Amino acid sequence: MPEKLLQVENLSVSFDGFKALSNVYFSIDPLSIKVLIGPNGAGKSTLCDCIIGKVRAAEGKIIYKAKDISRSPEYKISQAGICRKFQAPGILERLSVYDNLAIASREKRSWQQNLRLNLSKTEKERIEETLELIGLETRRDLQASLLAHGEKQWLEIGMVVSQNPDLLLLDEPTAGMTAQETAKTAELIRKLVEKHTVLVIDHDMTFVELLKAPVTVLHQGQILKEGSMEEVRSDPEVISVYLGRAHEEPMHA
Ligand SMILES: Nc1ncnc2c1ncn2[C@@H]1O[C@H](COP(=O)(O)OP(=O)(O)O)[C@@H](O)[C@H]1O
Ligand SMILES: [Mg+2]
Repeated sequence: MPEKLLQVENLSVSFDGFKALSNVYFSIDPLSIKVLIGPNGAGKSTLCDCIIGKVRAAEGKIIYKAKDISRSPEYKISQAGICRKFQAPGILERLSVYDNLAIASREKRSWQQNLRLNLSKTEKERIEETLELIGLETRRDLQASLLAHGEKQWLEIGMVVSQNPDLLLLDEPTAGMTAQETAKTAELIRKLVEKHTVLVIDHDMTFVELLKAPVTVLHQGQILKEGSMEEVRSDPEVISVYLGRAHEEPMHA
């Protein structure tokens, strides 16, 4: 069995006595995709917050590359190669697509200088690779504010990828996307696993299916079920707490 890249063991998180996560066990294989689903308030974002060190666990361990990071400061976790893309895009709207990627891929960050003049050959190559990966080669000189919603999300994924993370956490990457944008995002994520490990949180079942990856269902802070999309989808408990309800009320972040 390959060594896990990330292993969450017996994790519990409380907010003023409210248990947002209880005894969660969860792991991700290197260079794979894992999907985390569950209704609103299930604790999905809290689990991400714990992994990146933004929220502290009351109990349990987070083993990353064989080291417990559950007490490490956020910047150390980020330096160790865990990167999170938030729901809201963090792009610089007034800069071009290219310059957004240039900022993200700078090894030494110097904001004042002309970005393009100071890029190394390696950095330029990395930007070209990323532009191709996110499908925005022809949009490179466009001001980021003029991109479509889906394109902004891809640019931000590109910015996260430019930092060359080992583990990427994508919290609801398809929120607000059209069906076509959603399908392209699934394709993009499937390309990412050539070099990165990806944890995707979402509740769009069509999208989750396109990822063709193992799924973990969280419910009220606990793992309800793990398995393939088919296994999860046909599980009576999952249907009753999650999928069944999804037909009645659309779920939001
Ligand atoms: N900082 C916080 N303080 C208090 N309660 C929180 C905090 N963050 C999340 N919660 C609560 O924890 C539960 C899980 O939230 P969250 O992880 O955001 O769920 P999900 O991402 O699955 O929708 C919710 O009931 C939420 O209200
Ligand atoms: Mg959330």
